[in-house]
Amino acid sequence: MKSPFYNTFKINKIKIREKQVSKPEIATNKLKLIPTRKGKAVYEQKCASCHGNDGLGVAATDGTYTYPPLWGPDSYNSGAGLFRLSRFAGYVKYNMPFGVTYQSPQLSDEECWDVAAYVNSQPRPSKDLSGDWPNLLGKPVDHPFGPYEDGFTEAQHKFGPFGPVRDKIKELKQAKAK
Ligand code: HEC
Repeated sequence: MKSPFYNTFKINKIKIREKQVSKPEIATNKLKLIPTRKGKAVYEQKCASCHGNDGLGVAATDGTYTYPPLWGPDSYNSGAGLFRLSRFAGYVKYNMPFGVTYQSPQLSDEECWDVAAYVNSQPRPSKDLSGDWPNLLGKPVDHPFGPYEDGFTEAQHKFGPFGPVRDKIKELKQAKAK
């Protein structure tokens, strides 16, 4: 039986199953702890050797990075695609740890979502995207910034579960089309 909390995200040609990293009924202040515990373990075991325990990467002498920072002042900002969990998880699945390929992924889908939730809970530069989505129902389901028309919180749009959000958006779109 298909779990309602497992959806498949298609990102270009790749597909990744959603892992539920949080429960919507959990208070927002606790929500961060739920996804980060497992994700932190994945990070420390599989990512920190290059990206650093502090997430700040390893700078090269010429001002570029040998290993890019995943959080902190020089990391990708909150407007980047990677800041969406599905994008991060999909990228990491087939590109990280550095050296894996589409044919030889190393992390399970679950680990990818967990580490995505962990890394994307860390501080980073912000970018104002509030003007980008005049049509609120057109926002990607895991776009983590409101406002929304579907009544779900920013936390749920960021961490999921995305199934109920998707269903609601579909329903609202159908209602508008009538
Ligand atoms: C062996 C070293 C190494 C390990 C281990 C590693 N990475 Fe990387 N990572 C890199 C390198 C090198 C790049 C730059 C790749 C490029 O530019 O194509 C990178 C790039 C990235 C990026 C893109 C950053 C950006 O700003 O574009 C993300 C996200 C990322 N890694 C996540 C992870 C995660 C999550 C893990 C653990 C599962 C991990 N990496 C493990 C070396 C590593």
